[in-house]
Amino acid sequence: MDPNDLVLQYLDEAHATETALVTNLRAHIAMTTDAQYERLLKRHLSETQDQVAAIKVRRGELGEKDGRSLVAGAFGMAMDVAGQILVLTKGPLDAVRTTSQQERMLKNARDEAATEALEIALYDALEAAATAAGDSRTAKLAVDHRKQEEKMLGDLRKQIARLAVATFEDKTDTKAAATASTSRSSSGRSRSTSSSSSSSRRKAAGAKTSGSSSRTSASRSRSSS
Ligand SMILES: [Fe+2]
Repeated sequence: MDPNDLVLQYLDEAHATETALVTNLRAHIAMTTDAQYERLLKRHLSETQDQVAAIKVRRGELGEKDGRSLVAGAFGMAMDVAGQILVLTKGPLDAVRTTSQQERMLKNARDEAATEALEIALYDALEAAATAAGDSRTAKLAVDHRKQEEKMLGDLRKQIARLAVATFEDKTDTKAAATASTSRSSSGRSRSTSSSSSSSRRKAAGAKTSGSSSRTSASRSRSSS
């Protein structure tokens, strides 16, 4: 097999995946009643549409140099990947019809996180294959896209923590005693260092340390709007 054809095959899979995700994101945006979560979905919809366009351009560039016949051969595999996305999302969507709106958004966010992990794996493989083929432009495309997926996955996890609390309160009619992770609950703003989370945990555990940790109480109060 021609090395460039393998790169093209992986590009096709990425294209199918991102195209499927555009559909999913649009559907999830339509279902969302949470402004913060909706902003994140809209941001990633725009990023994903740009990714589809960039992959299409790169496929065209490679397809002109190398055989297009292989692209058609990879179509079935690309459809398999798109199918995985639909399987990942369809079941939960069917199952949540009777659940609360909060829980529906939570389940959608969990599905999106799974999809982002799949995309990250696809771009890992694409970067490796492109690098092995000496195709630095495609490798760079893979790295650039993967960075966006990693950021989206991280941002989604923050939303999941928040939506899960809202779902808990909605379904149990009980106010949350505390939020799960002090380091993740604060509004999507970036954390300073990885060690800060363990230090704030220590502060929270031994709360008799002096008043410098207003973070602890701040992070405990949920953003309830
Ligand atoms: Fe993505």
